Amino acid sequence: MQQDKVKVKLDGVPATMLFPLWGRAQLSKEYSSLFYDAKAIELVERIDYNFSGSDLPFVGMMLDIIRKANLLPMFSLVALMAKQFDDKIKAYIAEHPHASVVNLGAGLDATFYRVDNGTIHWYDLDLPAAIDVRRQLLPEPDRVTYIAKSLLDPSWCKDINTEDGVFIIAEAVFQFFEESEMKQFFSMLADNFPDGEIVFTAMARSDGFRAWMDMFPPEQRDAIRAAWMEAMRQWWEKSPQDQKDKAMATLKTLTKPKGTEWSDLEVWWEKLNDMEKAEALRDLMAALSNIPNGGVGMWAPKDANEITKWDNRITVMDQLSLSKNIPRDSLSADMQRFMDYFDKSGGWNIFHLRV
Ligand SMILES: C[S@@+](CC[C@H](N)C(=O)[O-])C[C@H]1O[C@@H](n2cnc3c(N)ncnc32)[C@H](O)[C@@H]1O
Repeated sequence: MQQDKVKVKLDGVPATMLFPLWGRAQLSKEYSSLFYDAKAIELVERIDYNFSGSDLPFVGMMLDIIRKANLLPMFSLVALMAKQFDDKIKAYIAEHPHASVVNLGAGLDATFYRVDNGTIHWYDLDLPAAIDVRRQLLPEPDRVTYIAKSLLDPSWCKDINTEDGVFIIAEAVFQFFEESEMKQFFSMLADNFPDGEIVFTAMARSDGFRAWMDMFPPEQRDAIRAAWMEAMRQWWEKSPQDQKDKAMATLKTLTKPKGTEWSDLEVWWEKLNDMEKAEALRDLMAALSNIPNGGVGMWAPKDANEITKWDNRITVMDQLSLSKNIPRDSLSADMQRFMDYFDKSGGWNIFHLRV
């Protein structure tokens, strides 16, 4: 039976949930040997959102760039994360078949449907605006509970059944927080879930725009810059004046655009060096999208042992790059280049801790 399309209204950080969802769906269609997520494909089809235009700032713009510059392999990122998380969860629930698995910042992630063993308890937690959307698209199945709270709100810990082990996951979430918030968060976990485990992605701040661009051959860099400028232009031209003024006010570059017309921005942009471009882009994105730091890592730990120094109850079980142990021989050269980049740059890592 054909289900109704669901109109999605999201702004700021919760809107970022559409980004990995779209990535998992596209990769499942085009690179199914790497990863397959049937639910993600189904969800993207059901959402009444213009994924091929720019309904939402930031998400729309990033998707435009990815399409125009042919960067889909970059989304191997979300598939690699999901694959590593699936393996970690499966290993834990093989030992604890009745465990509770808590998915923090769940968005529209469908990991439960890939790993369910028929006996686990699953919790998807996100901000109320995000859970509203999730509920409309994916009503809670048996043994799954949705929690509409901030992950920083300690009251959610009391909502979890702790009888048979607790395994917590957070995929592409912690980069939105300050280090001081994360310190309190990990102590809260240690207080509430002794012997619980957590697996999360950690974004390293060193992963700047410039390092990212350096991975491409020169001709592709030009195509990416052109796609980036075109997406920015479209985005800029439809943004209201007060948002443009706010964006201008956040710019920290020495020279500023002469006005708020797109042509003023183009002239100004050409004079910036690569580092200034990366910083300016981050500031503009943050102001126009209401996403702190434009989605670039705020808390950016390079090594999991940094966390054990905050609280001596916490121990490191594992830390790995996104593509560790993932066979790549059958993947395209583009995909392999992205995987090498993620391995070498340390831009994203996966940390596994016991609390
Ligand atoms: C990039 S999305 C990732 C979503 C999902 N983990 C995935 O991989 O598809 C970031 C998610 O973090 C959620 N988030 C941000 N701040 C949060 C908070 N304070 N408490 C709970 N969730 C939060 C957002 O609403 C969003 O769903």
